[in-house]
Amino acid sequence: MKTEVLNSDNAGLARAAVILSDGGLVAFPTETVYGLGADARNDRAVAGIYEAKGRPSFNPLIVHVASVEHARDYVEFNRSAEDLASAFWPGPLTLVVPLRPDSGISKLVTAGNDTLAIRVPHHPVARSLLTAFGGPVAAPSANPSGYLSPTTLEHVLLGLGGKFTAAIDGGNCSVGVESTIVDVSREPVLLRPGGIPKETLEDCIGRPLDQFSNPSNPTAPGQLVSHYATKAPLRLDAETVKEDEVYLGFHKCDGDMNLSPAGDLVEAAANLFLMLHDIDALADGRTIAVARIPMTGLGLAINDRLKRAAAPRP
Ligand code: TXA
Ligand code: MG
Repeated sequence: MKTEVLNSDNAGLARAAVILSDGGLVAFPTETVYGLGADARNDRAVAGIYEAKGRPSFNPLIVHVASVEHARDYVEFNRSAEDLASAFWPGPLTLVVPLRPDSGISKLVTAGNDTLAIRVPHHPVARSLLTAFGGPVAAPSANPSGYLSPTTLEHVLLGLGGKFTAAIDGGNCSVGVESTIVDVSREPVLLRPGGIPKETLEDCIGRPLDQFSNPSNPTAPGQLVSHYATKAPLRLDAETVKEDEVYLGFHKCDGDMNLSPAGDLVEAAANLFLMLHDIDALADGRTIAVARIPMTGLGLAINDRLKRAAAPRP
């Protein structure tokens, strides 16, 4: 199969919407990372996502919709869901909420759970696509399962080109780390740190947010220990670089590349996957030493991705 590259103009978006309606797969930009989308109600289309990515089928997908109103067709909103959606949608926040019995969402999307992970992205191309299509789009990050997430069209095509129908060219993703996932089907729990900082969510709900962690059960959604893998091994919190290593710096700890010379975590998140892709190529098998990144704001998401990238591979 040859993957068709579409412009993000009206003609390209209309074509992408037709491909989705026909059960095809479309990669599209969001503010976080590129997603590999399919009609979330179409079993065969959703199965195609798992196949293209080589993704374990027990790992459920996030559904993307154009607005909160659309979301209500598929899930039940409680108080916390309402508060968080009105504060952060459209934006890089995914809510895990009870699935409506009449939702029509494929069981492959939820991996049989009675909850659904759902978000309204804020990227104009993603929003226009969702509006043109008019239905729910299941989309994981558009990378082979377990590898670095794509923040450019080039990453998408390098990783998965030839394995799906079309990709929309939407430039680089501005946030650069995936959405924050909060389970609000019970007492709110942070399942994955991401593009909205934990502190910002806590300010909204008015209390500390528990963080889910269950390393003894790596099949629990969102908690695969080894993920975002580079080809080269990673050494984290590196104060200095050893001989025969390459160095990914931050702030004043300068290196072969620097996530943010100014020490800005928003800039570092936007550069994270971009620089991991590039420094992995530069390393050519040598270890990548990574400077220490503070654990505040987007630093929580950055450290989470780095920790999983550095974890022993299965
Ligand atoms: O920013 C993002 O969220 C990107 C863009 C494309 O929207 N998507 C993304 O999808 O990161 P993915 O598949 O790479 O990560 C989705 C995560 C997985 O860790 C999955 O286990 C978790 O969401 N998840 C999905 N449905 C869930 C559910 N019902 N309960 C708990 N976790 C769920
Ligand atoms: Mg992913």
